[in-house]
Amino acid sequence: MSSGPDLSRLEMDVLREIADAGDLAALDAVRVAAIGKKGRISELMGQLGTLPAEDRKAFGASVNALKTKVSDALDARKATLEMAALSARLAAERADVTLPVRAGAEMLGRIHPVSQVLDECIEIFADLGFEVAEGPDIETDDLNFTKLNIPAEHPARQEHDTFYFNPKPDGSRLLLRTHTSPVQIRTMQTKKPPIRIIAPGRVYRCDSDQTHTPMFHQIEGLVIDEKTHMGHLKWVLEEFAKAFFEVDNVTMRFRASHFPFTEPSMEVDIDASAIGKPGQWLEILGCGMVHPNVLANCGLDPEKYQGFAFGMGLDRITMLKYGLPDLRAFFSADLRWLRHYGFSLLDQPTLGGGLSS
Ligand code: DAH
Repeated sequence: MSSGPDLSRLEMDVLREIADAGDLAALDAVRVAAIGKKGRISELMGQLGTLPAEDRKAFGASVNALKTKVSDALDARKATLEMAALSARLAAERADVTLPVRAGAEMLGRIHPVSQVLDECIEIFADLGFEVAEGPDIETDDLNFTKLNIPAEHPARQEHDTFYFNPKPDGSRLLLRTHTSPVQIRTMQTKKPPIRIIAPGRVYRCDSDQTHTPMFHQIEGLVIDEKTHMGHLKWVLEEFAKAFFEVDNVTMRFRASHFPFTEPSMEVDIDASAIGKPGQWLEILGCGMVHPNVLANCGLDPEKYQGFAFGMGLDRITMLKYGLPDLRAFFSADLRWLRHYGFSLLDQPTLGGGLSS
């Protein structure tokens, strides 16, 4: 190069600064000072105009070459520093997985028994091929009642002690769902059979005493296919009861009952020896074969499809399995109760590892 500032000196300086940068912040400062908008190398371009015309091209090319060299050196140094930072972090965060759990949040927190039992149920039904479906707590009258074969003025409506919202101008009313059964309707309206779902969730009824609270939990089950029959229903419920109560055999009693959305309808009791109290029958759920009107209300042909449904009180089976006497305590947010009856966060129910071990 015939004239212009000495680039080799500048190059040496900048490369040394890059090599000396001890961390990413220092390196970035070097980058800004060298090839940033107002950096030393960038500003060289501004001097082009002061050079004789015949030197400009060669000088410009040298500056660009220097810029490339510097930016390659910056990249290389950056990669080195990043690697060193990662190694330092890995060394600092080294965990000895053989140590006992520290008395932190994971040890102290407790899972509410109802949540634990819900996880147990999901685990059992997932193993039987069911998926989990959900619906909203605020429902329409139509889905909570009418489509389930409970028309206006049907006596079953009175039994539900429904919380209604104020009527809308068109006269329709929203309500807090009184059972999880509307999720059956929502599922059949949107899915083609075969259907195998459980729908856990909160339900609401205007009722309160030792075994009733205005909000409680249910698990709905629904199976729809072309050849589903009551034998399937009984088998599924029996498999569930054995797995849930963690016993080899559960004696069940199917009592004729009535629900508008099933025909025939049954209530199911288990022989309480399953929970160490022989000589008693305990009701755990209602079930039946889905009523043809319900299938038709959802656009399914009752000549082609059939299936079964069941509805189970989640809080109730929690009380039975874990011997909890007062339902109201479930919802009183009493930390002492939760510490006593709650489950460890680390105690995930699995069929393989034991549901409640
Ligand atoms: N929905 C009913 C209730 O809350 C429970 C029930 C009974 C659900 C029979 C069902 C069923 O799906 O088939 O009392």
